[in-house]
Amino acid sequence: MPRKKLVAGNWKMNTTLPEAKALAEAVAKGVGTGPAADVVVCPPFPWLVPVSEVLKGSAVGLGAQDVHNEAKGAFTGEVSTGMLKEAGCKYVVIGHSERRHILGESDVTVHLKVHSAVEAGLTVILCVGETLVERERNLTERVFQRQVYSALAGLTDDQWHRVVIAYEPVWAIGTGKTATPEQAQQAHLFIRTKIRALHGENIAGSLPILYGGSVTPETAAGLFSQPDVDGGLVGGASLKADQFLAIVKAAG
Ligand code: PGA
Repeated sequence: MPRKKLVAGNWKMNTTLPEAKALAEAVAKGVGTGPAADVVVCPPFPWLVPVSEVLKGSAVGLGAQDVHNEAKGAFTGEVSTGMLKEAGCKYVVIGHSERRHILGESDVTVHLKVHSAVEAGLTVILCVGETLVERERNLTERVFQRQVYSALAGLTDDQWHRVVIAYEPVWAIGTGKTATPEQAQQAHLFIRTKIRALHGENIAGSLPILYGGSVTPETAAGLFSQPDVDGGLVGGASLKADQFLAIVKAAG
Protein backbone atom coordinates (compact mmCIF):
# COMPACT_ATOMS: atom_id res chain seq x y z
CA MET A 1 0.00 0.00 0.00
CA PRO A 2 1.43 3.41 -0.89
CA ARG A 3 2.28 5.56 2.10
CA LYS A 4 0.08 8.62 2.60
CA LYS A 5 2.10 11.81 2.67
CA LEU A 6 2.28 13.98 5.79
CA VAL A 7 3.09 17.68 6.00
CA ALA A 8 3.70 19.10 9.47
CA GLY A 9 4.24 22.76 10.33
CA ASN A 10 6.66 23.43 13.18
CA TRP A 11 5.87 26.94 14.34
CA LYS A 12 8.76 26.89 16.86
CA MET A 13 8.71 29.87 19.31
CA ASN A 14 6.71 32.08 16.96
CA THR A 15 3.24 33.69 16.76
CA THR A 16 1.15 35.75 19.15
CA LEU A 17 -2.16 34.20 20.21
CA PRO A 18 -4.20 36.10 17.58
CA GLU A 19 -1.62 35.17 14.92
CA ALA A 20 -1.70 31.52 15.95
CA LYS A 21 -5.49 31.35 15.76
CA ALA A 22 -5.62 33.14 12.42
CA LEU A 23 -2.91 30.89 10.97
CA ALA A 24 -4.67 27.72 12.18
CA GLU A 25 -7.96 28.96 10.75
CA ALA A 26 -6.42 29.75 7.38
CA VAL A 27 -4.69 26.36 7.23
CA ALA A 28 -7.90 24.49 8.20
CA LYS A 29 -9.88 26.39 5.60
CA GLY A 30 -7.28 25.91 2.87
CA VAL A 31 -6.87 22.19 3.56
CA GLY A 32 -10.62 21.53 3.34
CA THR A 33 -12.24 18.21 4.14
CA GLY A 34 -10.53 15.52 2.13
CA PRO A 35 -6.86 16.44 1.74
CA ALA A 36 -4.65 13.99 -0.18
CA ALA A 37 -1.98 14.36 2.51
CA ASP A 38 -2.20 14.34 6.30
CA VAL A 39 -1.64 17.84 7.66
CA VAL A 40 -0.47 18.76 11.17
CA VAL A 41 0.42 22.04 12.88
CA CYS A 42 2.66 22.29 15.94
CA PRO A 43 2.12 25.58 17.79
CA PRO A 44 3.94 26.65 20.98
CA PHE A 45 2.60 25.03 24.21
CA PRO A 46 0.41 27.93 25.41
CA TRP A 47 -1.45 28.03 22.09
CA LEU A 48 -2.27 24.30 21.92
CA VAL A 49 -5.70 24.57 23.54
CA PRO A 50 -6.89 27.67 21.66
CA VAL A 51 -5.56 26.27 18.36
CA SER A 52 -7.24 22.92 19.02
CA GLU A 53 -10.54 24.82 19.41
CA VAL A 54 -9.97 26.47 16.04
CA LEU A 55 -9.12 23.12 14.39
CA LYS A 56 -12.13 21.26 15.81
CA GLY A 57 -13.97 19.44 13.02
CA SER A 58 -11.22 20.19 10.49
CA ALA A 59 -8.86 17.77 8.74
CA VAL A 60 -5.80 19.35 10.37
CA GLY A 61 -4.14 17.49 13.25
CA LEU A 62 -2.50 19.09 16.27
CA GLY A 63 1.03 18.39 17.45
CA ALA A 64 3.35 19.65 20.18
CA GLN A 65 7.00 20.54 19.69
CA ASP A 66 8.32 18.58 22.68
CA VAL A 67 7.21 16.61 25.74
CA HIS A 68 8.71 15.32 28.98
CA ASN A 69 9.08 11.59 29.56
CA GLU A 70 7.62 11.50 33.09
CA ALA A 71 3.85 11.34 33.56
CA LYS A 72 3.70 13.97 36.35
CA GLY A 73 5.52 15.36 39.32
CA ALA A 74 8.24 17.80 40.30
CA PHE A 75 9.57 18.72 36.85
CA THR A 76 9.27 22.49 36.79
CA GLY A 77 8.54 23.89 33.37
CA GLU A 78 7.86 20.53 31.73
CA VAL A 79 4.73 19.17 30.04
CA SER A 80 3.54 15.53 30.06
CA THR A 81 2.07 13.30 27.38
CA GLY A 82 -1.26 13.24 29.26
CA MET A 83 -1.40 17.03 29.20
CA LEU A 84 -0.73 17.07 25.47
CA LYS A 85 -3.51 14.57 24.86
CA GLU A 86 -5.97 16.57 26.95
CA ALA A 87 -4.98 19.65 24.96
CA GLY A 88 -6.00 17.82 21.79
CA CYS A 89 -2.62 16.67 20.44
CA LYS A 90 -2.26 13.54 18.34
CA TYR A 91 1.39 14.18 17.43
CA VAL A 92 4.55 15.30 19.16
CA VAL A 93 7.89 16.32 17.68
CA ILE A 94 10.79 14.78 19.61
CA GLY A 95 14.54 15.30 19.25
CA HIS A 96 14.41 18.39 17.05
CA SER A 97 17.94 19.52 16.25
CA GLU A 98 17.36 22.82 18.06
CA ARG A 99 16.64 20.84 21.21
CA ARG A 100 19.62 18.55 20.65
CA HIS A 101 22.12 21.26 19.73
CA ILE A 102 20.92 24.42 21.49
CA LEU A 103 19.26 22.89 24.55
CA GLY A 104 21.62 19.95 24.99
CA GLU A 105 19.10 17.12 24.64
CA SER A 106 20.85 13.73 24.58
CA ASP A 107 20.04 10.50 22.74
CA VAL A 108 19.06 8.99 26.09
CA THR A 109 16.54 11.77 26.77
CA VAL A 110 15.15 11.42 23.25
CA HIS A 111 14.75 7.66 23.78
CA LEU A 112 12.82 8.15 27.03
CA LYS A 113 10.55 10.78 25.48
CA VAL A 114 9.80 8.65 22.40
CA HIS A 115 8.87 5.67 24.53
CA SER A 116 6.57 7.55 26.85
CA ALA A 117 4.88 9.32 23.94
CA VAL A 118 4.10 6.14 21.99
CA GLU A 119 2.99 4.40 25.19
CA ALA A 120 0.55 7.26 25.70
CA GLY A 121 -0.80 6.73 22.17
CA LEU A 122 0.72 9.83 20.60
CA THR A 123 2.36 9.67 17.17
CA VAL A 124 5.99 10.71 17.43
CA ILE A 125 7.75 12.78 14.79
CA LEU A 126 11.34 11.84 15.59
CA CYS A 127 13.90 14.26 14.14
CA VAL A 128 17.33 13.04 13.10
CA GLY A 129 20.04 14.65 11.02
CA GLU A 130 23.71 15.42 10.65
CA THR A 131 25.57 18.70 11.11
CA LEU A 132 27.65 20.18 8.30
CA VAL A 133 30.88 18.98 9.93
CA GLU A 134 29.48 15.46 10.24
CA ARG A 135 28.44 15.47 6.56
CA GLU A 136 31.85 16.74 5.46
CA ARG A 137 33.54 14.02 7.51
CA ASN A 138 31.32 11.36 5.92
CA LEU A 139 29.66 10.61 9.24
CA THR A 140 26.07 11.08 8.08
CA GLU A 141 25.17 7.39 8.10
CA ARG A 142 26.79 6.86 11.47
CA VAL A 143 24.75 9.74 12.90
CA PHE A 144 21.53 8.20 11.55
CA GLN A 145 22.35 4.82 13.03
CA ARG A 146 23.07 6.36 16.44
CA GLN A 147 20.06 8.68 16.52
CA VAL A 148 17.54 6.30 14.96
CA TYR A 149 18.56 3.15 16.83
CA SER A 150 18.97 4.78 20.20
CA ALA A 151 15.63 6.55 20.02
CA LEU A 152 13.57 3.63 18.74
CA ALA A 153 15.24 0.60 20.34
CA GLY A 154 12.76 -1.60 22.16
CA LEU A 155 9.51 -0.46 20.53
CA THR A 156 6.85 -3.09 19.94
CA ASP A 157 5.56 -3.62 16.39
CA ASP A 158 2.36 -1.78 17.31
CA GLN A 159 4.32 1.16 18.67
CA TRP A 160 6.36 1.38 15.46
CA HIS A 161 3.13 2.29 13.70
CA ARG A 162 3.00 5.47 15.79
CA VAL A 163 6.43 6.64 14.60
CA VAL A 164 7.28 9.11 11.87
CA ILE A 165 10.92 9.97 11.19
CA ALA A 166 11.88 13.45 10.01
CA TYR A 167 15.27 13.66 8.33
CA GLU A 168 16.45 17.19 8.99
CA PRO A 169 20.05 17.93 8.02
CA VAL A 170 21.14 20.52 10.58
CA TRP A 171 22.90 22.53 7.86
CA ALA A 172 19.58 22.98 6.04
CA ILE A 173 17.41 24.15 8.95
CA GLY A 174 16.52 27.82 8.75
CA THR A 175 19.48 28.46 6.45
CA GLY A 176 17.70 28.59 3.10
CA LYS A 177 19.93 25.68 1.99
CA THR A 178 17.64 22.80 1.12
CA ALA A 179 19.05 19.33 0.55
CA THR A 180 18.64 18.35 -3.09
CA PRO A 181 15.91 15.79 -3.81
CA GLU A 182 18.70 13.28 -4.52
CA GLN A 183 20.44 13.95 -1.18
CA ALA A 184 17.13 13.58 0.65
CA GLN A 185 16.25 10.37 -1.22
CA GLN A 186 19.66 8.87 -0.48
CA ALA A 187 19.34 9.61 3.24
CA HIS A 188 15.76 8.35 3.47
CA LEU A 189 16.57 5.17 1.57
CA PHE A 190 19.50 4.49 3.89
CA ILE A 191 17.30 4.89 6.98
CA ARG A 192 14.51 2.72 5.52
CA THR A 193 16.92 0.02 4.39
CA LYS A 194 18.49 -0.24 7.85
CA ILE A 195 15.07 -0.40 9.51
CA ARG A 196 13.95 -3.05 7.00
CA ALA A 197 16.99 -5.17 7.84
CA LEU A 198 16.24 -4.98 11.56
CA HIS A 199 12.44 -4.93 11.70
CA GLY A 200 11.16 -6.24 8.36
CA GLU A 201 9.10 -4.88 5.51
CA ASN A 202 5.86 -4.46 7.44
CA ILE A 203 7.42 -1.78 9.64
CA ALA A 204 9.92 -0.27 7.18
CA GLY A 205 7.51 -0.15 4.27
CA SER A 206 4.81 1.71 6.18
CA LEU A 207 7.14 4.09 8.07
CA PRO A 208 6.67 7.70 6.94
CA ILE A 209 10.02 9.49 6.53
CA LEU A 210 9.65 13.27 6.17
CA TYR A 211 12.25 15.70 4.94
CA GLY A 212 12.81 18.94 6.86
CA GLY A 213 15.14 21.89 6.34
CA SER A 214 14.18 25.01 4.39
CA VAL A 215 11.27 23.35 2.56
CA THR A 216 9.53 26.00 0.43
CA PRO A 217 6.72 25.92 -2.15
CA GLU A 218 9.50 25.99 -4.77
CA THR A 219 11.43 22.97 -3.46
CA ALA A 220 8.55 20.86 -2.11
CA ALA A 221 7.40 19.14 -5.31
CA GLY A 222 10.91 17.95 -6.23
CA LEU A 223 11.52 16.59 -2.73
CA PHE A 224 8.11 14.93 -2.41
CA SER A 225 8.44 13.23 -5.79
CA GLN A 226 11.24 11.04 -4.43
CA PRO A 227 10.08 7.49 -3.66
CA ASP A 228 11.22 7.51 -0.02
CA VAL A 229 10.28 11.11 0.85
CA ASP A 230 6.86 10.90 2.45
CA GLY A 231 6.26 14.59 3.10
CA GLY A 232 7.86 17.38 5.07
CA LEU A 233 8.45 18.99 8.44
CA VAL A 234 8.26 22.68 7.65
CA GLY A 235 9.54 25.50 9.86
CA GLY A 236 9.74 29.02 8.43
CA ALA A 237 7.33 28.44 5.55
CA SER A 238 4.68 27.04 7.92
CA LEU A 239 4.19 30.51 9.43
CA LYS A 240 2.61 31.83 6.24
CA ALA A 241 -0.67 30.09 5.41
CA ASP A 242 -0.31 30.54 1.64
CA GLN A 243 3.20 29.07 1.59
CA PHE A 244 2.29 26.18 3.88
CA LEU A 245 -0.81 25.38 1.82
CA ALA A 246 1.25 25.42 -1.37
CA ILE A 247 3.60 22.87 0.24
CA VAL A 248 0.60 20.74 1.31
CA LYS A 249 -0.64 20.89 -2.29
CA ALA A 250 2.73 19.68 -3.55
CA ALA A 251 2.26 16.59 -1.36
CA GLY A 252 -1.20 15.82 -2.80
P1 PGA B 1 12.95 25.38 8.40
O1 PGA B 1 12.81 24.51 9.73
O2 PGA B 1 11.90 24.89 7.45
O3 PGA B 1 12.73 26.80 8.83
O4 PGA B 1 14.33 25.15 7.87
C1 PGA B 1 12.53 23.13 9.67
C2 PGA B 1 12.51 22.56 11.04
O5 PGA B 1 13.34 22.96 11.88
O6 PGA B 1 11.69 21.68 11.37
